[in-house]
Amino acid sequence: MTHKLQPVRGTKDIMPDSYRLFEYVTQKAKQISACYGFSQISTPIFEFTEIFKRTLGEESDVVGKEMYSFDDRGGENITLRPEFTAGIARGFISNGLQNQLPLKFFCTGPLFRYERPQKGRLRQFHQINFELIGVDSPLADIEMIAMGTHIIQELGISDKITLEINSLGDSQSRIKYRDKLVEYLNDYKNDLSDDSKIRLEKNPMRILDSKNEHDKKIVASAPVISDSYNAESADFFAVVKEGLDGLDVVYQLNEKLVRGLDYYCHTAFEFTTDALGSQNAVLAGGRYDGLIATMGGSQTPAVGFAGGIERLSALLDVKIVAPQPISIIPIGSEAEKEALKLAHTLRNEGFYVELGYSGNVKKRMKKAGNANSKAAIIFGDNELEQKIVNLKDFYSGEESQVSASQLLDRLEIYRN
Ligand code: HAM
Repeated sequence: MTHKLQPVRGTKDIMPDSYRLFEYVTQKAKQISACYGFSQISTPIFEFTEIFKRTLGEESDVVGKEMYSFDDRGGENITLRPEFTAGIARGFISNGLQNQLPLKFFCTGPLFRYERPQKGRLRQFHQINFELIGVDSPLADIEMIAMGTHIIQELGISDKITLEINSLGDSQSRIKYRDKLVEYLNDYKNDLSDDSKIRLEKNPMRILDSKNEHDKKIVASAPVISDSYNAESADFFAVVKEGLDGLDVVYQLNEKLVRGLDYYCHTAFEFTTDALGSQNAVLAGGRYDGLIATMGGSQTPAVGFAGGIERLSALLDVKIVAPQPISIIPIGSEAEKEALKLAHTLRNEGFYVELGYSGNVKKRMKKAGNANSKAAIIFGDNELEQKIVNLKDFYSGEESQVSASQLLDRLEIYRN
């Protein structure tokens, strides 16, 4: 039975210190995306399985091996969302938003993938996610990548991050490339890893980012996608790169960058790090012009990206402490009652207040210290009678008597 008291493999409890980092990442993402005109939305944690199956690609790892799918009690096949984009596209269609373009959505929350857990890879993880729907101009791609860079900068982790970009071209360019790639890889068919042998049949471009060392050697001399771009795709990507250069966004071109989900076209990008072992992408996305139409909506271009909150938090150098309270330390049962009332008043005034709940003065002072208090208000029967309290400043160590009527003014310096 005891193992049942552990969280399920690949899931984690998020305790206060970690949660503060999560909040830090989420708030920064929300603030910055607001500067770019994004509004927060929330879509359901589960959707009909079809929503993901049709859009992410039947041959993708996520659909093939990683979805948490089940029949609910009504017999509907449901999947816990493995990513946000398909659900948002569904929400865009369901809410009839076609006439309100362009739209910019930010969202955050948990996602579920049945992956092999390791450092930086969980089965329940969290993302900050951004979608810009309805703009076919490469300006949208530039703006999104610039926003990703902005977020990385604001989080203070730029020195650990490399931005990699690629273009997957339009579907005509990809079909041409796929044929060339398959022709090349067929010559090495027997030397490929087992996974890549399967991918060669089903999704050959995924072989380009195989982690297998032998595959990597084969792929090193494979044809590159840029040789298969038609004029339109080449022009589109040229404008994206020029725009990024104009904004001094530093990037590396990575022609092997293919995304794990099938809905992408044209621009694909990943902000990667060496600091998290093999799980190197912290923020990733690209353009997905065909997705909404695939789901039954009208042809609507879009571009977006998502960042893993666990991975971003792990890279932060900041330590975010809990707000520092004022502690109230009553001596005796009368004072105890008054302490509760005083705490109530101060909290209504917006102060952070800690009550020690029990113990003698010494114990409560210790608790106040442990709670990282800025000050303590100490009083017993005598002080109650004289309508005064003792105020101890934890920075200077000084203690002074303050009349009850002046207390609020005196506490102003301890406001958070
Ligand atoms: P993705 O590349 O599958 O893209 O995931 C984006 C980010 O989520 C990854 O770079 C990583 O930081 C984090 N992540 C993914 N899987 C895990 C995991 N098992 N454990 C921890 N973190 C993970 C998408 O999800 C796309 N929907 C992004 C997008 C939005 N494209 C367009 N719009």
